[in-house]
Amino acid sequence: MQKPTIAIIGPGRAGSALGRALHASGYTIAAIGGRNPDNVRNLAEELGARACQSPATTIDVADLTLLAVPDDVILPLATDMVESLCSAAGHAVVHLSGAQDRSALRPLAHQGSLRTGVFHPLQTFRRGPEAVQNVVGTYFGIDADQPLRDQLTQVARDLKGHPFDLTGVNLALYHAAAVFAANYPITLLAEAIALAAEAGLDAETARQGLTTLLAGAVNNLRDLPPADAITGPALRGDEGTIKRHLEALKGDSELQHLYQLLADRTRLLNPKKEAAA
Ligand SMILES: NC(=O)c1ccc[n+]([C@@H]2O[C@H](COP(=O)([O-])OP(=O)(O)OC[C@H]3O[C@@H](n4cnc5c(N)ncnc54)[C@H](OP(=O)(O)O)[C@@H]3O)[C@@H](O)[C@H]2O)c1
Repeated sequence: MQKPTIAIIGPGRAGSALGRALHASGYTIAAIGGRNPDNVRNLAEELGARACQSPATTIDVADLTLLAVPDDVILPLATDMVESLCSAAGHAVVHLSGAQDRSALRPLAHQGSLRTGVFHPLQTFRRGPEAVQNVVGTYFGIDADQPLRDQLTQVARDLKGHPFDLTGVNLALYHAAAVFAANYPITLLAEAIALAAEAGLDAETARQGLTTLLAGAVNNLRDLPPADAITGPALRGDEGTIKRHLEALKGDSELQHLYQLLADRTRLLNPKKEAAA
């Protein structure tokens, strides 16, 4: 299958990471569009693309446009862009959000006669060039009609990723799952670092030590299901230790409550120990 030329609107975290990865995989990045002219120009220069100040022009010049803007901007931007399209009928536009379906692009589909879809990288991309390292191995959720579905499937494979079908999936639940997996462990780590510092560790030892601990847990999860990978007092049934933790947390009732909730859910991972307790 011939590789489509690509445009990216929104040279932020996800747009830049995918743009760099696609460029490295042999795709022509025809155009970069967006809001901040410096950000647009910088990524365009790096990827040998045209810098477009008007998002609609960006769509005109590429076979496939990735709309890499914040979730709440997708529909208003699609609505604005449809007024200024020149020669894009038959081109394709996809957004990268896992929380919105294709209807966020309906002005482009209905009034602009574009093919539209969802291409959600189930991945976390930081700011900066290092983010591209997370692309290989990513699972890509796809919702689109043919032939766009096949094209997006091929793009995911060319990125050395794993395409999967998002059609009919409850996106609010699916995206909540992604947030639980990638965002809240970081929130919990931030709480853990603050607690360790409060306990008396110096700040850098707390950050490095606990981040290494989290990396060890993620490493265990690579080939074990959560119920086999998890360790600690709630799974072992060390209720005395849990009591001491709760007592130590009594100065922050919200955190104490959060600890209790997590301990209760952790016990459920091992129903045998739960029954014996
Ligand atoms: N980052 C991730 O880990 C990740 C993972 C999977 C999916 N996604 C999805 O990818 C999309 C982008 O997320 P992100 O994290 O990459 O966001 P981000 O880093 O904030 O980047 C958003 C980009 O959109 C541009 N933008 C914002 N408002 C705009 C507007 N009104 N018109 C034109 N451009 C506008 C920003 O412009 P400036 O250059 O001026 O800031 C920036 O380049 C979202 O749908 C998100 O759900 C993100």
